[in-house]
Amino acid sequence: MNKEARVSKQIFALSNHFKKESMQKRETVFITGANQGLGYETAKQLIGNNYFVYLGSRNIKRGEETATKLEDLGLVNFKMVQIDVTDNESIKAAAQELQQSAPQLDVLINNAGISGPMPSQEETLAVLENPALGVVTQQASTLGIEEIRNVFDVNFFGAIQVTQALIPLLKKSSHPRIVNVTSSLGSLANHSDPSAPWYDFFKKWKLAAYNSSKAALNAYTVMLAAELENTPFKVNCITPGFAATNLNDYAGTQSPVEAAKVIFDYATIEENGPTGKFYDENGELAW
Ligand SMILES: NC(=O)c1ccc[n+]([C@@H]2O[C@H](COP(=O)([O-])OP(=O)(O)OC[C@H]3O[C@@H](n4cnc5c(N)ncnc54)[C@H](OP(=O)(O)O)[C@@H]3O)[C@@H](O)[C@H]2O)c1
Repeated sequence: MNKEARVSKQIFALSNHFKKESMQKRETVFITGANQGLGYETAKQLIGNNYFVYLGSRNIKRGEETATKLEDLGLVNFKMVQIDVTDNESIKAAAQELQQSAPQLDVLINNAGISGPMPSQEETLAVLENPALGVVTQQASTLGIEEIRNVFDVNFFGAIQVTQALIPLLKKSSHPRIVNVTSSLGSLANHSDPSAPWYDFFKKWKLAAYNSSKAALNAYTVMLAAELENTPFKVNCITPGFAATNLNDYAGTQSPVEAAKVIFDYATIEENGPTGKFYDENGELAW
């Protein structure tokens, strides 16, 4: 790095330091699974847009490495918080840490997710080329119950437990938002309605554990949004698109930056924005 670049990085860091001092005035966001993939990209976009982000990471070392990456970009308005969404004690400790650190939580992004057994990058690319091949992992008639439970523990029960632990802090915000990161694979319409946009393509993408866990998350979102209907809460499901991340062995066709933008948009919706809905980058989707 030349001297000029070093100085401008120092100035940027210094100005961020002073901005950090006034963090109380910033909106606060907690993202689970933010140490890589879409959670990380969403964190970057939010920090860059003046939000203070609590960066959830299941593994402390991986979280610290991510923190260093953000600092290297000159970003400082974040704090890494250890959280394993399948571990009740870890969720409680994270909620306590947030309560001590933030006067209120404005946005919760339930992003942490796992796919369950998936094809390799090569196999996925072959299916994209020739959809008739289909994905043969996670067949409903044979997939082990433990595999299904593991996926539900993160994608469904994990999101519920984190939400319930953080509702008290979210209630302190004048404009609380919950974004549940789901998938178009969790849309029962896409799997059962011949007129749905992905019906034909998804004929061969019947991932019994992953798709069912996201459909369950969608159902929970509708229930929660209904309960909170006459409050300032906005609770929505969003599907980010098929982005190249660890989840799909980097076979996704979109960039994580584009996909994270969809999460960003619904994390930052207006006070009179929608609630209890399901969106992708083009608008509302059928459940
Ligand atoms: N990529 C896509 O095309 C796509 C499409 C539709 C929906 N989504 C959804 O987008 C979300 C993010 O996925 P991604 O594509 O960014 O995948 P990713 O790169 O694999 O990131 C998943 C994140 O979740 C974390 N995680 C997994 N289990 C956890 C647990 N028990 N507790 C806390 N964190 C946990 C991972 O932590 P570790 O690093 O420790 O493993 C990682 O940070 C998921 O909900 C996924 O279903 C992705």
